[in-house]
Amino acid sequence: MNLIDAFNWRYATKQFDPSKKVSAEDLETILVAGNLAATSYGLQPFKFVVVSDQQTQDELVPFSYNQPQVSQASHVIVLAARTDVDEAFIRTMARLTEKVRDLPQGELDGYAKQMIGAVMSMSDEQRIHWAQKQIYIALANMMAACATVGVDSCPMEGFVPAQYDRLLNLGEHNLTATVVLPVGYRSDDDEQQNFAKVRNPIDQMVIHHGV
Ligand SMILES: Cc1cc2nc3c(=O)[nH]c(=O)nc-3n(C[C@H](O)[C@H](O)[C@H](O)COP(=O)(O)O)c2cc1C
Repeated sequence: MNLIDAFNWRYATKQFDPSKKVSAEDLETILVAGNLAATSYGLQPFKFVVVSDQQTQDELVPFSYNQPQVSQASHVIVLAARTDVDEAFIRTMARLTEKVRDLPQGELDGYAKQMIGAVMSMSDEQRIHWAQKQIYIALANMMAACATVGVDSCPMEGFVPAQYDRLLNLGEHNLTATVVLPVGYRSDDDEQQNFAKVRNPIDQMVIHHGV
């Protein structure tokens, strides 16, 4: 399948077949795709929490406006913003870059200072919002990876973040839930798979400046 065929095949799955499980290999591909997302300064201010025990998945349903996907899916990936982005975190990422790129320790001190100036000038609320915007890039990467390996998914904002944070102990990990991606395999009963995609014509979506 080429990329556009895969994107046409993908749809926001409303009913998963609970008997079908995503393989460890495909799950790894999806998570690595999320990890490869571009982020501001490469700081990756988020983590992915994978829920795959049925009891917890069932408990998520009432906190998801009773949407059944979180219970039926093979795995529920909760994309969560870090609430602990501080100077030390930014310096740690600079050290990691030096290590991976074989640079002398301290080489990126100036750059770290610049990042700290930009990121720590935000209020706590703005910094979480900054992290959350980037989470959506990871979300898109994961959805694309799912479609490429033939795994169904449903991006979901229809949930109560505070309740997810509480149930999954996200506060202890300095995280807050931002968006959820149940993954698995579509149920034959999911009528949504038969519906035509509704999109504006591409020529109405694009404004060309120049030639
Ligand atoms: C940020 C975001 C939040 C969404 N939240 C939900 C949700 O809570 N429940 C749901 O069933 N679909 C949700 N959707 C799916 C959209 O309704 C769906 O992507 C859109 O109608 C286009 O349909 P398609 O993805 O099947 O092509 C969400 C999509 C996005 C991108």
